[in-house]
Formats: sequence, structure tokens, C-alpha cells
Amino acid sequence: MTTTEDYIPPRPAAPARFPRGMRALYASATDLLSLFPETAFRHRMMPFSAISQRVLIVNEPEMVRRVFITGRAEFEAKSRHFRQALEPVIGDSMFLNSGEVWLTRRALMAKLLHPSRTPGFHPLFVQGAQELAESWNGKVDVAAGFAAATALAVMRALFGQAAKAEDAARLAASFTAYEGAVLAVDFGHVFGLPERMTGWQFHTASKHARAIRRLCSANILAAGAKPEGLFAELQAALGENGRRLLDPTQLINEVAMLLLAGSETSANVLTWTLYLVANHAPTRERLRAEHEAVLAGRLPEVADLNALPFTKAVIQEAMRLYPPVPYLSREAARPERIAGIQVKAGETVMALPWLLHRNAHLWEAPHAFRPERFLPDAPQKPPQFGYLPFSIGPRICAGASFAMAEMMVFLAVLLPRLDFTLAKGTAPVPRARLTLRPRGGMKLMVAKR
Ligand code: HEM
Repeated sequence: MTTTEDYIPPRPAAPARFPRGMRALYASATDLLSLFPETAFRHRMMPFSAISQRVLIVNEPEMVRRVFITGRAEFEAKSRHFRQALEPVIGDSMFLNSGEVWLTRRALMAKLLHPSRTPGFHPLFVQGAQELAESWNGKVDVAAGFAAATALAVMRALFGQAAKAEDAARLAASFTAYEGAVLAVDFGHVFGLPERMTGWQFHTASKHARAIRRLCSANILAAGAKPEGLFAELQAALGENGRRLLDPTQLINEVAMLLLAGSETSANVLTWTLYLVANHAPTRERLRAEHEAVLAGRLPEVADLNALPFTKAVIQEAMRLYPPVPYLSREAARPERIAGIQVKAGETVMALPWLLHRNAHLWEAPHAFRPERFLPDAPQKPPQFGYLPFSIGPRICAGASFAMAEMMVFLAVLLPRLDFTLAKGTAPVPRARLTLRPRGGMKLMVAKR
């Protein structure tokens, strides 16, 4: 139940009922969130049929477990739309691959991004956060700033200090432009065209994809014969046959994937978190008190992060309300039954963190901003398969530790040093294309404290 003190942050107006026909197609192509009426947050499962295609949305923890954990082999492959939407940028990278190729590359990524290596990335997070703290003043689009800063953090992790801030800013701008050009629905697929004949809507996006890949290649080239950072390990990794695991194109694919997966997402969470903090004085004050008690004006060290539970809870609540990956989409490898519904081989099954995270059966006051629900001593634990900002199961985000540490460091550096208030006319509405972003960016007024 919401109380009068609850702060309910913005979300798109929900239609009275599911749109139909072309209106539904248009809504799903331009902003997936605009498809769902209020009742959708509570439905257990939603089959959608569009001309020759059917998509099944599972919206209940037990079914999420069935698809993402117990049925992982049957639902391991990303859906055709996901593949087509991302392939121009990340090629055959492990994010889109499945089977043996995915397994081998997943083992490599798991090693590179293992939680035990997060302390090694810590100085990069502090460096990036300090650079923002020094450069932000006046009216700032914090969405664009975070996008460039998080891209730079991944570039530095990959290539060392040779990574350039201008490249990161160009990369972030190209990711934004690419996402703006890619539709959330492949109409060719909906109309039943074979895969090789579809994807035409991505043509406008391809110039941005080429720019992204050129930047990745240039950084690989600049790394030369003695690369530093994670890239050195990617390049040197050997396959079972004792040969290099990744050829030059596959190296570009994995680098582009890490940059995309590792920047867009954290940047969106940080953007929404600052917005929520700027709007909610009690959270702001409690955060400041935590930072003052633990850090007393100094920069955070690795060991400090465990002593900042409220900072972590605020980030977790921001990811609940605004999950940066708003939908997870899989293709059935063979015919399956889910809760009595027959799924054919090749059909798409989706889980939407956007819906699950605001499901009234799973969360009290689901639309209210209550970071306290994520504190270790909260009376109710988050539902096990109903909170999936990092996905769940074997394909869970390989960079979750990197991301959590990065986001905590950014907040612990920025909030004690800067004041954030809403810029006049800022009324952000979340919009879901590939990731969930505030439409038109996020303009905040920034002042030194
Ligand atoms: C708040 C930040 C982040 C969020 C919310 C997030 C979320 C996700 C999600 C939901 C997936 C799975 C997508 C799917 O199942 O379709 C994923 C996969 C992945 N993420 Fe993240 N991510 C974040 C940051 C990062 C960072 C910083 C890195 C690397 C530096 C990273 C690397 C990856 C990789 C390599 C995969 C592919 C895993 C696989 O397919 O086995 N992510 N992420």
C-alpha cells in the first residue's frame, strides 16, 4: 500500500487496455513500455500474436525460474530480434551466441570480470568519478555525462590509461544514436519473412554501428604488440586446440560488446539514481549522512563499499524502478510447455524486469521509491525470481560486480562534492528501446558543495 509520504517517480502513461493491430506494432517498435496497461503488471503470463509470430511473456517468478534456470538449455539462445538488433554492432560476440561458442567465451569473460578482480578496477572508478565531479557545473545532461564516463571506465579496463576521453564520448554518442535508430520490433519477422530477408529497419542504424566498430578497431590497433589491461588477456586467450581463441574480427566483436554492455547499463542506472536522489530529500540526507560517517570527505577505498549499505540499496531500488535492460528475450530451441501453454520451436519467450519489478503481487507499493526495502535488515527479502536487473541463470550479467562497485564509487564521490537539483522543464519519462533511458536525456543543475 502506498502512503502519503511515498514518492512515486514518473513512468509513461499506461493505456486503458492493450493496443491492437498496427497500433500495437507501432507502440512496441517505438517504446515497449507504452504497450502495457496497469493490469499487465499483475498478469501471470501474456501471449501476444502478431500476424505470423507469437511472443509469450512470463510474468511470475516460478515461470521465470522455469525459462531461465530449469529450462536453460531449451531457452539459452537470444531471440531473433535481439540478434538482429545488436549484430551490426557486436557481431557474433558471446552476448548473442549460444552453445559451445558461448560456453567457451563465457568462461573467458567470467575470468576477466570475476568479482575477485573488482578491487583492481576500483582506481578507474574513482578516477572517472573525480573527472566528472571536476567537470560538472551548471546545467548538465547527466545521462550523456555518465554514458561517456562509464564507456571510458570500460575502455581503461580494456586498454589501460592510453584510452582517450574523446573516444569514449564519441562512442557513447554513437551508442545513443544507434539505439535511437533501431526499432524495438523487427517488422520483417512479424510478417513472416525469413531471417536473411529481414532486419531492413536497421539500415539507418548501420552508419552508427560502423562508427562504433571503427573506434573499437582503432583502439585495438593503438594497443599495438604489447597491449595492456583486459584486452591483452582477450587477445592471448587460447582455445582447446592451442590456437588463439578469437580472430581479429571476433576480438572487435567482444570489445564492442563489453563497451556496449558495460557502459549503457551502468550509465542509465546512475542517471535515474541521481534523478531520484535530487527529487527525494529524505534519501538524499540519509545518503549524505552515510557518506559523511564512512568517508568524512575522503575518496572511497575498496573496503569502504561494504560499509555503504544505503548507497547500495538506493542503486538497487533505482534498478527496480528503471531496469536498464527492460526485457530479456529468448528463443525456444524445441517445443515446450510453459504453465500449460504450448511454445513452438523458434517462438520467443520474454521476461520483462519492467513488469516483474512493479508487480503488486511481489512488491509492496510497487511504484513507490523505497530504497529501504533493499537494506539487509528489511523485513521482506526481494522476490528471488522477481528481481532481475542483471538477468538470472547461466547467462546472468558477467559484469555485475564490476557494475555494482562502479556505481557505488560514482555516487560516493559525486554526492559529497556536488548538489543536484532538477533543471527547469526537466520531466523525464522512461522509454524502452534496447535499454531503458530517459527520453531526451536528463538535465540537472549541478553546483559545487
Ligand atoms: C548496471 C549495470 C548492468 C546491468 C543492469 C547489466 C545487465 C545485464 C543483463 C540483463 C544481461 C543479460 C541479458 C540477457 O539475458 O538477455 C547482461 C549480460 C552481460 N553483461 Fe551486463 N549489465 C550491467 C553492466 C555490465 C558491465 C559493467 C559489464 C562488463 C564490464 C557487463 C557485461 C555483460 C556481459 C559480458 C554479458 C553477457 C553474459 C552472457 O551472455 O553470458 N555488464 N547484463
